[in-house]
Amino acid sequence: MIFFDERRNTITLSTAATTYQMKVDSTGVLLHTYYGPRLRGGDLSNRIVHEDRGFSPNPYEVGKDRTYSLDTLPQEYSSCGVGDFRVPSVEATCGKGSRTVDLRYVGHTVREGKYALEGLPAFYNEGVTAQTLSVELRDSCTGLEVELLYGVLEEYDLITRAVRVRNGGESPMELERVSSVCLDFPAGEHDLITLGGAYAREREPVRMPLTQGVHTVGSVRGTSSHQQNPFVVLCDHETTEDAGRCWGVALVYSGSFQANTEYTQFHETRLTLGINPFHFRWKLQPGESFTTPEAAMVFSAQGLGHMSRQFHRAIRLNLCRGPWKDQRRPILINNWEATLFDFDAEKICSIAKAASQVGVEMMVMDDGWFGKRNDDFAGLGDWNVNQTKLPGGLGPLAHRIEEMGMKFGLWVEPEMVNEDSDLYQAHPDWAFQVPGRPMTRGRSQLVLDLTRAEVRQYIMDNLRATLNSAPISYIKWDMNRSLTDVWSAALPAQRQGEVYHRYVLGVYEILEMLHQEFPQVLIEGCSGGGGRFDCGMLYYTPQIWCSDNTDAIERLRIQYGTSFCYPCSTVGAHVSAVPNGQTGRSVSMHTRGVVAAAGTFGYELDLNEITSEEMEEVRTQIQHFRSCWDLVLRGDYYRLSNPFRQEAFNAWMHVSPDKSRALVGVVMGVGHANPIRPLLRLKGLDPNADYKVNGEVYGGDQLMYGGLALPILQEYQALQFDLERV
Ligand code: DGJ
Repeated sequence: MIFFDERRNTITLSTAATTYQMKVDSTGVLLHTYYGPRLRGGDLSNRIVHEDRGFSPNPYEVGKDRTYSLDTLPQEYSSCGVGDFRVPSVEATCGKGSRTVDLRYVGHTVREGKYALEGLPAFYNEGVTAQTLSVELRDSCTGLEVELLYGVLEEYDLITRAVRVRNGGESPMELERVSSVCLDFPAGEHDLITLGGAYAREREPVRMPLTQGVHTVGSVRGTSSHQQNPFVVLCDHETTEDAGRCWGVALVYSGSFQANTEYTQFHETRLTLGINPFHFRWKLQPGESFTTPEAAMVFSAQGLGHMSRQFHRAIRLNLCRGPWKDQRRPILINNWEATLFDFDAEKICSIAKAASQVGVEMMVMDDGWFGKRNDDFAGLGDWNVNQTKLPGGLGPLAHRIEEMGMKFGLWVEPEMVNEDSDLYQAHPDWAFQVPGRPMTRGRSQLVLDLTRAEVRQYIMDNLRATLNSAPISYIKWDMNRSLTDVWSAALPAQRQGEVYHRYVLGVYEILEMLHQEFPQVLIEGCSGGGGRFDCGMLYYTPQIWCSDNTDAIERLRIQYGTSFCYPCSTVGAHVSAVPNGQTGRSVSMHTRGVVAAAGTFGYELDLNEITSEEMEEVRTQIQHFRSCWDLVLRGDYYRLSNPFRQEAFNAWMHVSPDKSRALVGVVMGVGHANPIRPLLRLKGLDPNADYKVNGEVYGGDQLMYGGLALPILQEYQALQFDLERV
């Protein structure tokens, strides 16, 4: 609900359990007054203290009142260069070269439903109550107009934000920074949680107390990146998994981003999140406007776990789209780790045959099926079938797979080109390259300039032709390098600062075409594993390959970190061969299956090469996943341990929304002699209900507050048990 109190000039946004408030003050500055647990009402500006602070300047119109300074006021969208020395929300060069921005309230509107953003991914309100608030701010000196958009999805406690900037002046302007969100806290210490990491070590939660200064995380790679994820949490020092206040903010964007958290001289906190200002410059002619990506915020007073579950539901049901978003995905087998580039139709069929016998439902042919693609030095860009490997093309192979009772899926990497390709020979200028400078290769490939319409057209034509050439039910959309040499031959010098963002818009345009023309095709996002695992991609691809690291023990950490924002239904997780290609570690087929079953579930090996006992285990895993997929994909997810601590075991559970069923996964930690007996306390059950676990009946309260004594197992052995209300 959005409520404007005319007398107090406050606008209050209410969700089921949270309240968010702003207030237009006497000078027209839009103050941020509150974001936290739901309140009955009131004007929260009483929290803002006005003091005469040295070196905190005062706007002209307040005259001799030295207690009024933008430097100390919490603001909805901070100004720049006119008295607030904290991180600005917007930076722009206007008219005569001035870089100051001073925004004042002009008006606002409220409407039913949620706004959409043209060409950009955004949460939508199908099936839920939502309202939109639009607040208009203006810099009267330059004519810069800012529209702050808020979407309120009440039942998830989700508030989305986006910003439209318009040049309402008479001369051109250049935007240098436009945050999607600015969130000011007038007081109090906070911890910051970010999801850091690296290739094959994605989304490792990092928690730190904020100290005075600005802490910046982000990506300048042109993608959201393996190294930092566009998701941050602020919380109280005391906040835990199950208790305390926290504010999570996710950016619905797949390109370079920046999150700044500033802790000030007066112990205020400011968070800004949006497109990274690195190499960003957007020209606005009079009358033109620019729209930022969306940011989504969830406040939880019940700890980090509840915050995550709110994000999970909202992402699964109101960000992901298409028929697959809430459905069981086919249990797939992918040939990449089994064969790399060394395969042909017979090899693919032999992997598929073995898999079909134990119930695998889809064969995905990975990289290497096209052009001269026998290694990663050649072929990208030439989306014609390699007839030596696949005589007759994709059709005959896909039909053979379908005759085995399986679906057929295919890997593509549309955004890239190898120099050793027909495409590059024909159009060398289609790849990013700075004139006069040798290009920088990444995985021996170059990035296509998706800001160019003819390049996007080429990609779309090829994807369309490929999808129409055979019964293809699934696509794995990969992207295997960061952007460098970002310069477009199609744009004039003064517009080169737009290329990074225009690239992302190009990716979205192609993905939208796929979504519209091939709605039944399930698309899995991928970027060398989880290098572009973000809310932007999830609008187009309801699942993303979580990491190239398929070691089950390492996956415990990666999936744990991923779960801070992203639901299990989006997490591509497969059982792979041992010793693991990334770590050299061997764990049992059972452990690998238990860990992969916390995601979309599939296989990444040649089942012809495992023992008959392991094959039986695979058969059992598949049957079991079929019986509990709805818990994993639609249930509430609870983290029961932190795999970054050396705990005796790692555990998690999925609980059905009506709390009648649950699935628990446990993997033992590093082995020790004479070990401590592990006691597992469950979460999310109905304390007044009884549950059957392994043939025994326990109270929900008993399982949650007393706990379940686990058997002592060997290092990295796993347990999986189902709970059913009796
Ligand atoms: C990176 C992906 O993450 C892998 O799964 C695989 O598809 C390779 N690319 C293929 O080049």
